Amino acid sequence: MSAEVWMVASGKGGTGKSTTAVFCAAALAERGKQVLVIELDCGLRSVDLLAGVAEQVVFDIEDVLSGWCPPQKAICQSPFYPGVSIIAAPYSGQQLHIDTLGEVLDSLKDCYDFILLDVAAGMGQAFQGAATVSTGALLVLTADPVALRDGRLVSEWLYNNSSVVPRLVLNRISLTATTMDLDVCIDTVAAQLIAVIPESPQLQQTVLEQKTVNKQSRLWLAYSNLAGRICKEDIPLLME
Ligand SMILES: Nc1ncnc2c1ncn2[C@@H]1O[C@H](COP(=O)(O)OP(=O)(O)OP(=O)(O)O)[C@@H](O)[C@H]1O
Ligand SMILES: [Mg+2]
Repeated sequence: MSAEVWMVASGKGGTGKSTTAVFCAAALAERGKQVLVIELDCGLRSVDLLAGVAEQVVFDIEDVLSGWCPPQKAICQSPFYPGVSIIAAPYSGQQLHIDTLGEVLDSLKDCYDFILLDVAAGMGQAFQGAATVSTGALLVLTADPVALRDGRLVSEWLYNNSSVVPRLVLNRISLTATTMDLDVCIDTVAAQLIAVIPESPQLQQTVLEQKTVNKQSRLWLAYSNLAGRICKEDIPLLME
């Protein structure tokens, strides 16, 4: 095993990066893959809640990056999604010791098929550090003009400054959206579409009640198809 590293980015905050990182990881794990999700954010944590490990976290990614503890001590196994492991973001602090990220990932790559880096919003140090070590990028955007315009800047930055080719995940898309609506989004961002994730009225309640995602839902189908495409399966892009 030598893990593929995918960063999950957006530009604008709150577009669904962490949700996508965890559910995509869960869907990859259902395909038999071992997946590690690392939340590269400072002071804002959400991956631990989504994966059901909030009570387990003792050490975080900054403890690992700064050399305070070995990565194995910071890894939590998700009880919700077997095959998914998590390293949580720190609760506080301004900056991560991002320079050591490559070294840390090299020490973990043999244990996983995929490592997903859930980077903070914007194009700060976590984003730029992740871009130097990633093989792929999911650009998670909602269909609003601000998110799309920011997404284009992120996409251009990646094209100009890294070898990572961003793939567009359109999130929170309503049932009534047309193909033309999606085309406008794709044209604005200028990145190839890899998934259309529907708006889920149940999602917040699911996280609040600390339950696993409903595997019969359209949301899950969309993430399952995204995982299949990441695994290079030929899955047509439909409104899922
Ligand atoms: N497909 C969806 N349907 C409904 N709600 C969603 C969907 N995706 C995300 N959300 C909600 O949007 C909010 C933001 O999601 P999330 O935390 O994953 O975004 P983020 O991009 O990681 O945010 P941040 O930039 O703060 O890290 C959450 O309340 C989440 O439940
Ligand atoms: Mg997040």
